[in-house]
Amino acid sequence: MKIIKTVNELTEFVGHTLERGESIGLVPTMGALHDGHLSLIDQAVKENDVVIVSVFVNPTQFNNPNDLATYPRKEEDDFRLIARCGAAVAFAPEVSEIYPDGLESDKVFELGTAAEVMEGKFRPGHFQGVAQIVSRLFQLCRPKRAYFGEKDFQQIAVIRNMVLSEKMDVEIVACPIKRAEDGLALSSRNQLLTAEQRAVAPEIHRALADSVDYSKEHSVRATHDTVVERINAVPFMNVEYFEIVDGRTLLPVEEWEESPYIVGCITVYCGDVRLIDNICYRK
Ligand code: PAF
Repeated sequence: MKIIKTVNELTEFVGHTLERGESIGLVPTMGALHDGHLSLIDQAVKENDVVIVSVFVNPTQFNNPNDLATYPRKEEDDFRLIARCGAAVAFAPEVSEIYPDGLESDKVFELGTAAEVMEGKFRPGHFQGVAQIVSRLFQLCRPKRAYFGEKDFQQIAVIRNMVLSEKMDVEIVACPIKRAEDGLALSSRNQLLTAEQRAVAPEIHRALADSVDYSKEHSVRATHDTVVERINAVPFMNVEYFEIVDGRTLLPVEEWEESPYIVGCITVYCGDVRLIDNICYRK
């Protein structure tokens, strides 16, 4: 596996790969890789001739400086794991390589209403930052397919909107959430939990999973409230939002009959650590 740090070297590698007629799969990551990331890389390796994994903590998608400063970084471990999965390249640039003209950008991406709700409301600018880095990576890596985890359910919808509005020729592949044995959705942020917080964190998934049965006999509002009350009763936990939405538009639903595809998206602070998860109610 090649570790590439510069845009010039990456451009050369991508050019040669495409000249040979080989397909490129891209797995964009912010590093601190876990089994969720590795499952994306495994799938990309099966479906493409050459796989590039980017490892880049993108400053423009953080609206909270402390979140950016404490985001876990483990580059050497990441490179070992990427090599073991059979990817061709780990692309780990400095910020100045990606944003040579600085972090500010005049470009405003058309991301649709899906970008205005939930994360869009609580993390202003977040999705413009995600679109900025993902479009830059697409421009540099020229992938046929790009892989994203469904834990970030809203992110996938927003990236799909970006691909449509920018007329990009990239297939977005959504991969299922990977969970620890106790149900906690794998996330790089889990490493920031204390032992006590980690012990209670699986309650997020348990509450969501139990609410699927509950939802068969109760309204959307009652299902929402039972999840929020149960999680808020756990030590360290504070629900930032829980929204039950149409799985395509991400707009809130009030009745189960409103859509054939309904998903519950949650963000919970466990101490200072912001965890997200989701569950499908109807499909
Ligand atoms: O999901 C992530 O880790 C990031 O948002 C992404 C897609 C790598 C862009 O920085």
